[in-house]
Amino acid sequence: MAKLEIIDMQKLYKTGDGVRHINISVEEGELVTLLGPSGCGKTTILRTVGGFIECDAGDIQIDQQSIIHLPPEKRPTAMVFQSYNLWPHMTVHDNLEFGLKLRKIAKPERQKRISNMLELVKMPDMHKKYPGQMSGGQQQRIAIARSLLLEPQVLLLDEPFSALDAKIRQQMREELRKIQTDLNITVLFVTHDQEEAMALSDRVIVMNKGSIEQVGTPNQIYNRPISRYVADFIGEMNFLNLPQGKVLAVRPENVQVMPGSGGEMAGFVRTIMMLGHYIEMTVDTDYGIVKAFITDEQSQKFARGDAVSMTFNHTQEYMPA
Ligand SMILES: Nc1ncnc2c1ncn2[C@@H]1O[C@H](COP(=O)(O)OP(=O)(O)O)[C@@H](O)[C@H]1O
Ligand SMILES: [Mg+2]
Repeated sequence: MAKLEIIDMQKLYKTGDGVRHINISVEEGELVTLLGPSGCGKTTILRTVGGFIECDAGDIQIDQQSIIHLPPEKRPTAMVFQSYNLWPHMTVHDNLEFGLKLRKIAKPERQKRISNMLELVKMPDMHKKYPGQMSGGQQQRIAIARSLLLEPQVLLLDEPFSALDAKIRQQMREELRKIQTDLNITVLFVTHDQEEAMALSDRVIVMNKGSIEQVGTPNQIYNRPISRYVADFIGEMNFLNLPQGKVLAVRPENVQVMPGSGGEMAGFVRTIMMLGHYIEMTVDTDYGIVKAFITDEQSQKFARGDAVSMTFNHTQEYMPA
């Protein structure tokens, strides 16, 4: 049964921007991600769930109960933002204790829960630190810890890692995923980073200009994008303009290149670039430039300007943009 249900929800700002016809269902213990470019309405949806903005139409339910008339503090949700999450004048301990005090949890129990939570986020000795004395990644861990201490029915995370360095970001993803599955927490996560969405999520909701474009598992979104928009936004994709106005889409890892002729499409090697554990080759064709990912060994057979031909696995056709 769905833990969180957003039903035909609409929120339009005075400017006409916003979100419409939003239908989202998140199962208990599921991590679902809203993915899309800046301005597509991700934060708007999260804020309507958290109660920070009112929706114009539709309903939002947790455990089949409508929550839209509850103020944020009465909702069984907790939200973590991109930054400025902690109270700077309070120690880590006090930041974590605040919500527990409000809930009138007795002191020994508060101590116990805070210590357990700091263990969980791998920061057991940080009780006395102030936010300004910690790295961005550590602060976000504490912010997530604080929201988890409130034991929300649904945890809302709005680009919580996007201000962090790539390496820390990846580490935080893995930690969040572990904690989320261990504790069986229901999460609605927001990011504009398709790699983050693919790595973290049980299901991904791809958004486009205030509407939902596709909902699916990372695998479905990657391998069966329903539109050119999704195909373009997720991963890398070649779009080739065939005769009769057709557009053929193929991912670079699904392009095989061979010397000479014999393949489906002929062309000339344009560039060969070493990218670490694989080689990126581009080929000039009559239908556009094709990017292919090949191995170091394969790349030895080719030089710039060589006549080559290609075969494609797993292609899709779209209407022209
Ligand atoms: N308070 C507001 N008043 C007017 N327009 C807003 C407001 N907040 C967001 N918007 C607009 O609504 C759209 C969606 O914004 P937002 O939900 O913040 O997108 P995202 O989080 O995906 O970047 C954007 O066009 C944005 O400019
Ligand atoms: Mg946003």
